[in-house]
Amino acid sequence: MSELTQTESWKQLAQHADEMKQVHMRNLFAEQPDRFETFSAHFNDMLVDYSKNIISEKTMALLMKLARERDVPGWVERMFHGERINNTEDRAVLHTALRNRSNRPVMVDGRDVMPDVNRVLNQMREFTEAVRSGAWLGSTGKPITDIVNIGIGGSDLGPVMVTEALTPFGRDKLHMHFVSNIDGTHMVETLRNLHRETTLFVIVSKTFTTQETLTNARTARDWFLTRGGSKTAVAKHFVAVSTNAKAVAAFGIDPANMFEFWDWVGGRYSLWSAVGLSIALYIGMDHFEELLAGAHEMDEHFRTAPLEENVPVILAMLGVWYNNFFDADSCALLPYDQYMHRFPAYFQQGDMESNGKRVTRDGKLVDYSTGPIIWGEPGTNGQHAFYQLIHQGTKLIPCDFLAPVETKNPVGRHHPILLSNFFAQTEALMLGKSEEEVRAELIEEGLSGERLEALLPHKVFPGNKPTNSILFQRLTPHALGSLIAMYEHKTFVQSVIWDVNAYDQWGVELGKQLARKILPELDDHEKVTSHDSSTNGLINYYKEHKKE
Ligand code: F6P
Repeated sequence: MSELTQTESWKQLAQHADEMKQVHMRNLFAEQPDRFETFSAHFNDMLVDYSKNIISEKTMALLMKLARERDVPGWVERMFHGERINNTEDRAVLHTALRNRSNRPVMVDGRDVMPDVNRVLNQMREFTEAVRSGAWLGSTGKPITDIVNIGIGGSDLGPVMVTEALTPFGRDKLHMHFVSNIDGTHMVETLRNLHRETTLFVIVSKTFTTQETLTNARTARDWFLTRGGSKTAVAKHFVAVSTNAKAVAAFGIDPANMFEFWDWVGGRYSLWSAVGLSIALYIGMDHFEELLAGAHEMDEHFRTAPLEENVPVILAMLGVWYNNFFDADSCALLPYDQYMHRFPAYFQQGDMESNGKRVTRDGKLVDYSTGPIIWGEPGTNGQHAFYQLIHQGTKLIPCDFLAPVETKNPVGRHHPILLSNFFAQTEALMLGKSEEEVRAELIEEGLSGERLEALLPHKVFPGNKPTNSILFQRLTPHALGSLIAMYEHKTFVQSVIWDVNAYDQWGVELGKQLARKILPELDDHEKVTSHDSSTNGLINYYKEHKKE
């Protein structure tokens, strides 16, 4: 039996969940007129309404008791103080230092990291201003018009998601491209309409050993050289972001064009570092610093607000409630803002690579469920795709709805229509539609007898589906920074509850190792026999049918 399931609050929560499973949110709302006020939290101009959850005051009290029993406040301090909480990699976890706008010293091994953080931010400012102003010229004297960010995972998803989300703050004259996939199609299609004289490649890799990124970077360099670029011209068209200066130099990138970050920054938490260079090139350094400031304000809130008012803690504990006591396997992120269309994809890595773990920090198998499956699409597209299952399927899927009060594009009635859908969906998911209500509607429509009885069950909505509604004033760099930090901390709090290390990712290693072994086997026409029959069969099928 694990320590977690033996805590007093866990046992109380298990018992309490049995009671709450008998309760419908409809009734909770009917019985508690101030439910919205009781179960909503505020952070700056952000409202987090969590009243449409299957919770009572007792539920929240027990969840907070669990957070205390698991020493969430202690772990928060340990993280912010640079303790090596990433125990399997023996590293501190300090993405918060990257956005520490207070400049308070942050010590790692007795050394303040803030001077380094500020030095790289200055380097980013100098470089991005030169490129954006046209002072940085390509090797033939032309200004840069196209940026190609080459990276994968955390070295891609953050830059893509933020660049997309902050399009209205972007520089029209700079066209942004992101190549991540090792599939040559991604690179070929990206390069198709680009010109080597006006293109800047930003190679982003924490380790600078990632096969996909290095292969893509080499292809980009070959493209550049075969179009008349010279080895010396590479300096004007290739920059790197990495922790591995040696490998960057070995690749042929001038160390002067390298932007450094550190091993205490996890890949999926790195957009705040020089990994955000493409973001800063697009939106400018002032906006990039606003993004950092928004995240920093959320950090301060997370550190200092009492657990009961602490937005990331509340969201995390609600997640634990459904994950562990209602057997909910997944959690949907539903941004009602087209600019945020990559937000769910970003947190697929952010959350699933962090908490997709099956052993505790000290290596014991867990006997409870850990990180959920994260998925989602922007509203209202999702409504016409998968909401059916959320409303009437057999799975419980807690959803976060997110939207700005004001849109950047107030055309016609689009925004009120969009938001009416947001509000209607959360209402419908909570209320549902009872058999009596459906019967009355069908009678009103003139149906009766067998036809009515046959249709009735299909039109019933059970309701009682939990949602959080997160409204913020506008999607600015500042607001986006806060939102991202909020979900990062939610993930961290859950890792503390589940006693897993949110900052390693050994699970991606095995596939990489095996691919390395298989790659040379694909080169000749010899039959392979060294794998299981399925893998042999697939490899041999490919070898028989390939055209070279
Ligand atoms: O998928 C594994 C992973 O290590 C991620 O954690 C990381 O974001 C990605 O690969 C890319 O790694 P790198 O930045 O070192 O190229």
